[in-house]
Amino acid sequence: METHVEKVKITIDGKEVLVDPGISILEAARQNHIRIPTLCHHPALSSWGGCRICMVEVDGSPKLVASCVTPVRAGMGVVTSNDRIIESRRIILQFLFAERNHNCMFCPQSGDCELQKLAYELQMDHLTVPGSFDEFPTDITSDYLAIDHNRCILCGRCVRACQEISGAHVLNFNNRGPHNLIGLDLSETREASTCLNCGVCMQVCPTGAIYDRYRTHYAVTGHDTAWQIRESICPQCGLMCPVIISVHDNSLLKIDGNLMADESRPDHGQLCYKGRFEVLKTVGRRLTRPMVRNGDGTLTEADWEKALELTADRLQTALRAGGGDAIAGIASSMHSNESLLFFREVMGRGLGAGSMDTLDGACFRTLVRARADLKTPLKESSWKMIPEADPIVIVGADPYQTQPVISSLIRRAIFENRKKVLVIGQQADLFPFAARHLPLKEGDEPVLVRAMLDEVAASGTDDARRAQAAELLQRVGLDASGAAAFHDMARTISEAANPLFIAGGGLIAPADGSGFNSLARLALLKGLLPGSALRLIILKPFGNSAGAWKLGLASAAEPAPKITSTTCVLFLAGEQISNPDLLERLTGFDFLAVVSPHVPESLADRADVLIPCPLWLEEDGTYTSLDGGETGYKKKVIEPPSGVMGSWQVLSALAERTGFRPAFETWNDLCEAAQKEMGG
Ligand code: FES
Repeated sequence: METHVEKVKITIDGKEVLVDPGISILEAARQNHIRIPTLCHHPALSSWGGCRICMVEVDGSPKLVASCVTPVRAGMGVVTSNDRIIESRRIILQFLFAERNHNCMFCPQSGDCELQKLAYELQMDHLTVPGSFDEFPTDITSDYLAIDHNRCILCGRCVRACQEISGAHVLNFNNRGPHNLIGLDLSETREASTCLNCGVCMQVCPTGAIYDRYRTHYAVTGHDTAWQIRESICPQCGLMCPVIISVHDNSLLKIDGNLMADESRPDHGQLCYKGRFEVLKTVGRRLTRPMVRNGDGTLTEADWEKALELTADRLQTALRAGGGDAIAGIASSMHSNESLLFFREVMGRGLGAGSMDTLDGACFRTLVRARADLKTPLKESSWKMIPEADPIVIVGADPYQTQPVISSLIRRAIFENRKKVLVIGQQADLFPFAARHLPLKEGDEPVLVRAMLDEVAASGTDDARRAQAAELLQRVGLDASGAAAFHDMARTISEAANPLFIAGGGLIAPADGSGFNSLARLALLKGLLPGSALRLIILKPFGNSAGAWKLGLASAAEPAPKITSTTCVLFLAGEQISNPDLLERLTGFDFLAVVSPHVPESLADRADVLIPCPLWLEEDGTYTSLDGGETGYKKKVIEPPSGVMGSWQVLSALAERTGFRPAFETWNDLCEAAQKEMGG
């Protein structure tokens, strides 16, 4: 039932306004488009009242109050700006500037500094107090972000963001007085600390103290007026995090999490190192023109017509000589549903390729087998269930590597909600915080999970199953303390009312999917979650694995270790292939055409033709969530380099040259078809 809240009347700068009781003066002013400058305040964080820049006069009182922490009261009269207030703000600002060395060479170029903007606004053109040029350290040990303590104003936004948004609880204030510094854990370097590199501290930092290592400065003429801000979703891991992307002159400046986005998301819009930083890295030479292998074995740039004609010709020749079995198509699950659907259309219906698979097809086949064995649809649970679960059992998974935001949610479950986390397998990020951890040799996880299933299913009464469990335990060589931890884990799982299992590559990638199968049975034994989902989250390797698998791009049947077709089209999006098994599968083709935004280094000596396609930032498309339950639309935020066609247009041009007419002629046709297939 909706409760009616009586508004209170206050006066701000002579204007009478009605506002909700209990909100701060700052909030009341902002709701009524009255500006009060702030520094330590951030709308996505709790208010702290530390910097005092937001001072205002209340009812003519002799003392100024901090508007960000002072609640409104009926009849209150507020003055937000007069000579006295401006002078006090200017003095505070001078002390902030005098305290450390703020002669920054980056902020004047980018304009992206709240401290600098405030100095301009308050016309603070010199210091009336002596400046300190004591030197403070700079920590550049992280691959992703650096902290320069000389630029820090100790506003505490980063500390609050690390606690309230990321839930990592890594940042804090260390030392006292003039030696006060933002510290990580117990004064560790960023690299040695338990930091998740999510970068939310950097996003909320009002100065240049915390900055990223890939865009240290972005010189932008005209400062912020020339930036474009675009919203999209991140397609990196299946969590479909909302992002705010700053662009200038078709160049990517920075990617931020949407901290004010959908409140139903338990991640508070934080983002992770993959979504925020990895995109800014140069992952290899950008491919902007096709390349064709010459008679002397070298790859050289060629025009589009030549590359497309050659590929189409080789596909048709192979088809004539050996039928569909002479052609293979392999796709990466980093592509959008639309691109993948078009790939399936051209390679499957158009050319009748005898073999089609995704780079992560092995994981898909494990799931297919588990579904058949369990005789259940194996509906996976959503990652959004993590905050409610207890215990959280992580098996053969490393969320920090695959879905880093999940790692952060698990930490929050431990630190803030006192949930138990049990870890089975090699796991560097979470095991220090886990209630129990069994660090097995790589490859032993499946055996231990089978033992765990026997132990839990035996319920203390089935001696045969308990003996079976004991025998499996011996096989992985657990010592006495390991065995005690195992039994404790089994007891915790047996007694749990709301457990959740998280499986990763250690269970789903091996060809023998028996470990995953046992885990799925264990999850089934513990019941279903609302929505008929198993108590199981599967951390898939790529951003759109669930979409690619749903579209039938991955082969359900085990392919030969080496594809024997003579011609292959590999459809890649951004990633470099380093897995030796995959590389082995990609050798020995008579002809290999690779469609990719970059020159894929590991394939550069195998490919006969390289055809450019856009990065994910450069084209629209839908992506499917980790559990396959949701689909999100990713808008492009920049244009591809001149001459680079959209992924589906490359495939369409190829189809045209083989004489095949795809069912979708326009982008809208393709979107509708993809939506239908994804159940939208
Ligand atoms: Fe209010 Fe800092 S913004 S005290």
